[in-house]
Order: sequence, then structure tokens, then C-alpha cells
Amino acid sequence: MDGHATTRVDPRVIEAMVPFFDEHFGNASSRHHRFGWTARDAVAAARADVAALVGSSARELVFTSGATESNNLAIKGVADAERSAGNHVVTVETEHRAVLDPCAALERQGLRVTYLPVRDDGLLETDTLVSALTPETILVSVMAANNEIGVLHPVGELARVARAGGARFHTDAAQAVGRIHLDVSADPIDLVSLTAHKLHGPKGIGALFVRDGLELTPLVEGGGHETGLRSGTLNVPAIVGFGKAARIGLDGMAEESARLAALRDRLADGLRGALDGVHVNGSMEARLPHNLNVSFEGVSGEQLLTGLTDVAVSSGAACTTTSAGSSHVLQALGLSSTLSKASLRFGLGRFNTADEVDRVVELVRTLVIRLRAPIEVFDLADEPLPPGWSD
Ligand SMILES: Cc1ncc(COP(=O)(O)O)c(C=O)c1O
Repeated sequence: MDGHATTRVDPRVIEAMVPFFDEHFGNASSRHHRFGWTARDAVAAARADVAALVGSSARELVFTSGATESNNLAIKGVADAERSAGNHVVTVETEHRAVLDPCAALERQGLRVTYLPVRDDGLLETDTLVSALTPETILVSVMAANNEIGVLHPVGELARVARAGGARFHTDAAQAVGRIHLDVSADPIDLVSLTAHKLHGPKGIGALFVRDGLELTPLVEGGGHETGLRSGTLNVPAIVGFGKAARIGLDGMAEESARLAALRDRLADGLRGALDGVHVNGSMEARLPHNLNVSFEGVSGEQLLTGLTDVAVSSGAACTTTSAGSSHVLQALGLSSTLSKASLRFGLGRFNTADEVDRVVELVRTLVIRLRAPIEVFDLADEPLPPGWSD
């Protein structure tokens, strides 16, 4: 149930990928033989399928190694290409490190970055963004769905605000694509970061939507692949897998979202029904269907996680390799350090069942009751005082 860290690759995705390791092993850039053409055609088909996730045209999509690279390319690429237009970037305190760290890199280069606060339900107020924009602002980056608390930002509306202020708008949609509708043909979003492994696709493959005509400085230069924005031989099997995962995700989105939301609500209701002192973190209204993030009063975060050995969940983001301390996202919501450490993040997935949810509720209930039980101590007050001692 740790589906925000990653997801199991769908067997249909694996089946689609396998021929591109052996039978169709060609290089998609080889122009003079059948092996190259087969690979090129498969990449073109996958590009169209991935583009459909965000409503873009296929030629506006650049394949990368994942959302981390896409975020870096978007943020550093715009900052470099638009250096003469301004030196200010706006983002949000609750972003993933794959956005916060490239922003910190820009600060080291002398750009100014504003980190916007969120409300206690995890959502950014549009007015907060409006008041942060200056004539120097070149880029606004706000994630579509948060990877810890699953809250959804109204990226279409925020993109309109950014555009009205003369800035580019980027969204990290790693957790959102294939889960909720994103449509760059309706909304003035300039850049979208995607990744396959949160959507039952393979790891190490992602994409960046780059709106037609937008100037971007590449991070990786070489053979001029991907319209010069990301050089390097294309990872054809992974791209094919991403395409297949995208198609499955998009085709079944409505039913799958409803199923996952029902499972998630069963989990939330089960935990709240079984225990007192359970706090749901983040808005329940604007939220991914498969996310639940809860804190438990009166338990230590470490004991909570180490005690749940039979359930794969996490506290905070697994994608951050340094894990010391409590979640910056929960702290931005105003949670105490104790309560934010005593939190569990659930990400339900395609292969989870109602039985599993019920088992998890029972395991968490038993553990939390045990952790909250007072430690039995030998009470000296009940003992007679030794001779010669007085109260
Ligand atoms: C919101 C968000 N952005 C970026 C990433 C990084 O994506 P990737 O693992 O594809 O680099 C993740 C998770 O890993 C994420 O949840």
C-alpha cells in the first residue's frame, strides 16, 4: 500500500515491453533499416499514448529518465533560457525535493525563489500566488498532486494567474497523471513532468511536456535526440511500457478512480472507527482517489513504522533518499513534529483488495492500542516505607 513510492508493473505492460529487448532491439534513430523503423514506430505510438495523458500533441513531449529529470529540465531549462527576462521563480513549500532542490540550485546561481505557504488543508490559495508575482517572475512551479497527502492543486487556474503575470507555468504531475484529468489544450500550462512508475509502468522513464514554441536550455547534450532537448539513445522498451501504462491508465481511469476511492474511504472509515485520536492530513475534497495520510495521537512515529512489518506503507516520501526528520509537507500544514512523525501514508493501487484493507485496519488498530498502553511500572507509592523513613 505504498503506491506513492512506486507501483507494480502491470503484466500487460511487461508483455508489451519484452519484444523490444530482443526481437525488435533496434535503435529508434537508425534510419536505414527495418530494426530502426520498427523501434521508431513503436516510440511514435507510445509518444502519442503518453501525450494523451495530458491532452498535448505528441511532438510536444520529450522522453526523460523520470519526473526528477523532467523537473530539473523544466526549472533549470526555463531559468537559463529566460535569464534576460527576469530572475524570480515561485514555487510551494510542499513540493517534492525534485522541485525544491533544482530551485535551491537556482538560488545558488543568484536567482530569487519564493516558497509559498499552504493552508492547513495543504492547498495553496490562488491569492497567495497572485501576490507573489513580480515583473521579474519568469516561472511558477506548483505540483498537480502532492505525493504525501495527495491534495490536488487547481493547476489550470494557477496557470492562468501565472500567464496573466507574464510567467511560465510548470507542474510536477508525477502522482497525478492517469489518476485525474489534466488538459494542456484547455489550460495554459507550459510544462508538465510525468513519470511511468507511479502508474504501473517501468521505473527510469518519464517525460516532459514542453509547449510548442517555449525556449528551454537542455541539461543533456549529445546527439540531438528529442528535438535537442534530451540527447541519448532512446530507451525503447521503457518508452513502449510507458505508452502501454498510459493507455491502460487513461482507458480505465473513471472505474479505477471510483474503485480506489471506495477502498481508500473504507480504510479511512475503518481506522477512524477503530481508534480515537486519528487525524486525516490534507483536504479530503481535493484529493487523489488512492491517497490517505493519517496521524495517530499518542504514539511514536518510529515505533509505528517499525511495528508494522507486514504492511508496506511509509511515513513521508520514499523518493527522498535522506530520511532524517519529519515531513516538510506535514509541517507546512502546521502539524507538530510529534504528530507529523506519527503519520502513515497509504497509496492504494490496482492490485489492492478490500480484504487487504480490512487486514491493514486490524493490524494498525492492534499496534496503535499496544503502543498507547501505559508501560506497567512497579509503583513505589504502594509499597510500605522502610523503617525510619517518613512521607
Ligand atoms: C511528486 C513527485 N515528483 C517527482 C518524483 C520523482 O519521480 P521519479 O522517480 O520518476 O524521478 C516523485 C516520486 O518519486 C514524486 O512523487
